[in-house]
Amino acid sequence: MTTRLQELDEIEASVWSELERCVATRPRSEAGEDAHEPPHEWRVAVLATVDDGQADARSLVLREVDAAERRLIFYTDARSPKVRQIEQSPQGTLIFYSRELGWQLRMQVRLNVETTGLAVSSRWARLQTSAGARDYLSVAAPGRPLDAPLSELGVRGHFAMIEAMAEKVDWLELHPQGHRRAVLGGHGSHWVQP
Ligand SMILES: Cc1cc2nc3c(=O)[nH]c(=O)nc-3n(C[C@H](O)[C@H](O)[C@H](O)COP(=O)(O)O)c2cc1C
Repeated sequence: MTTRLQELDEIEASVWSELERCVATRPRSEAGEDAHEPPHEWRVAVLATVDDGQADARSLVLREVDAAERRLIFYTDARSPKVRQIEQSPQGTLIFYSRELGWQLRMQVRLNVETTGLAVSSRWARLQTSAGARDYLSVAAPGRPLDAPLSELGVRGHFAMIEAMAEKVDWLELHPQGHRRAVLGGHGSHWVQP
């Protein structure tokens, strides 16, 4: 059995290095037959948002991590309902769980959507020649009923990036010798009862 980390700053550093490690592996949906090793279990996160006072949540592939800035990046279709929700209410929660690590992260984040500008165009330039580009090129917006008439023609990509700035991380470790939980914040961390 591996040694358990004891210090909160070591745990926080390890959380961010696992997040960085996970974006280096390809998600199963993209690796397909080429998948030689299982993707990191944190590669697909659940993002919860607020929709007019009602909770909403969905799975998203984590694309980029900047540990120093405590920033995570996801890609999406600019027309998807989550984009409107984030514009109206930028608070969100990200959930990551890894059975291998025994770690759950509940990360309170401040969300921002970028649909134009260099950060978006440079990523779209990289993506548009890949198979993943079709996710952002459909004529119909995500969630649109399939029997509704089409009024517009999709002539350009609807690629957008969601930026999530971590404000607080609730870390839970499930362990046979006793579960542990800590709140890891940019302004100090503390242990809490699991
Ligand atoms: C494994 C998995 C990965 C997904 N990755 C993404 C993603 O990276 N970006 C995205 O917009 N939707 C992704 N989706 C689809 C979303 O979960 C969701 O169905 C879609 O974005 C519409 O969400 P919304 O109606 O809340 O906007 C993924 C779904 C699954 C099951």
